[in-house]
Amino acid sequence: MSILTEENITEAVLANINAENPRIQQIVTGFIRHMHAFIREVEPTEDEWFAGIDFLTRTGQMCDDKRQEFILFSDTMGITMLTDFINHRVAEGATETTVTGPFHAKAFAAENGAIIAEGPEWERGEYTLVRGRVTDTAGNPIVGAKLDVWQSDDEGAYDVQDEKQPEINLRAIFTTDENGEYWFRTVKPSSYPIPTDGPVGELLKATGRHPMRPAHIHYLITAPGYRRLITHLFVEGDEYLESDAVFGVKDSLVVPFVKNDNLEKAGEYGFSGPFYEVEYDFALEKA
Ligand code: BEZ
Ligand code: FE
Repeated sequence: MSILTEENITEAVLANINAENPRIQQIVTGFIRHMHAFIREVEPTEDEWFAGIDFLTRTGQMCDDKRQEFILFSDTMGITMLTDFINHRVAEGATETTVTGPFHAKAFAAENGAIIAEGPEWERGEYTLVRGRVTDTAGNPIVGAKLDVWQSDDEGAYDVQDEKQPEINLRAIFTTDENGEYWFRTVKPSSYPIPTDGPVGELLKATGRHPMRPAHIHYLITAPGYRRLITHLFVEGDEYLESDAVFGVKDSLVVPFVKNDNLEKAGEYGFSGPFYEVEYDFALEKA
């Protein structure tokens, strides 16, 4: 091999990559080119290089079956959403996608109309009625679509983070009826901070960023013959819509939570006071 220099080392490394699989070749050579360009741009000191290795090491050490600090790193760098944008250039009329997040967990099937808030938040929070339809992109109802729903409580905590909530709370799987309709009762979710007790939290702090996500309800919607839809509904007016820590907000997913003070109507829905109404139709793309 010829003598290596600062100028030729990138080409020398690239010349060593001979993957049989062309996609692996593309990914690995792209990674090397961009990482070398990054190093040339920032010219790290050796201490800085080691700090980077230490950050990645601690990020990996923080991961287990409940905590995925690498995904959080990707989320907060906008990499998850850039990948989402590239993979979901959705068809005209289809509902837009956003991040899955780390809080999806086991849930049980529930009847339409069920109350999913079974912890102390039901006494404390603001009643909310959520309903709508699941359709194809032409607006035809999809019967039997499954909506796996999960959300934080009125204080911004998910059941998996909060010992005061029942083990499975604020999550359920609904099925659209013969008109493609779904509905359920819950409490209005709150904005909340993503986990900050690991390396990603340190990075947010060091870069002058807050950890907050605007209030939202998560959905994972499936129906045979249609592309799986992972998305949220965001609460209109939330103060963090413009600065979501994971860049997940899309305008089409921001919905009004409309206050209804009619106590008679509230009673009909089993609420003992005013409630919010949220209506949203999801449109699925053909698989
Ligand atoms: C969430 O919405 O549950 C979430 C998404 C990305 C990172 C952390 C939390
Ligand atoms: Fe969330």
